[in-house]
Amino acid sequence: MVNSIEIAPSILGGDHSALADSVDKIKAAGLSWVHVDIMDGHFVPNLSFGPGIVKSLSGKFPEMFYDVHLMLDNPHLYIDAFSKSGANLISIHVEPDYPVEATLQEIHLLGKKAGVVLNPKTPEGAAAPYLPLVDLILIMGVQPGFGGQKFDASVLSKISALAKMREESKLNFRIEVDGGITAANVSEIIRAGADTIVAGTEFFRNTQSLLESVKNTK
Ligand code: DX5
Ligand code: ZN
Repeated sequence: MVNSIEIAPSILGGDHSALADSVDKIKAAGLSWVHVDIMDGHFVPNLSFGPGIVKSLSGKFPEMFYDVHLMLDNPHLYIDAFSKSGANLISIHVEPDYPVEATLQEIHLLGKKAGVVLNPKTPEGAAAPYLPLVDLILIMGVQPGFGGQKFDASVLSKISALAKMREESKLNFRIEVDGGITAANVSEIIRAGADTIVAGTEFFRNTQSLLESVKNTK
């Protein structure tokens, strides 16, 4: 089964002094996903938002779908907090050393959708054990930590490989790609097999061009 395309704007790329305005822009573009990047200053060399921000936004805009990307060394310690904050989907990286499978189970037990994330250099095989357990695989197009970086085109083959693994296993997880996506490269990323597109910088700078490129992708 082929999933419909979703665009998940990353509020990291918007004005942090006016996060509600960022969500208003996402709504005005006719979109419902809000990608929230959570960074711990350790797994990635930057700090960003915490569960309080997700709680405030989901309280003000309960109609939106909160796609929470945890870039943390110890994501399993924060699942309950993000679940209570109103996250709809919680994605956890496979690279740090913690119980990934048990954490995915905890996310599902709390009634949320669960995803695993692969850094650009992490091979698709690292996701293989989790494919039957997730709603989404998030493939990073940049080394996580900062918005506005250049997409690493070497991940296109990983997107295709995961799309093939999905077809062969008759599973139906979404394939999300995050980092460096622009109006110029989004079509090839969708053609490689992505159905969920994260965009921070480009969404807030060139909203219409990005939406048109997605719409016109054949
Ligand atoms: C990177 C984050 C991304 C980032 C994308 O650490 O996970 O979600 O905000 O930003 P752009 O679209 O600017 O590359
Ligand atoms: Zn992200």
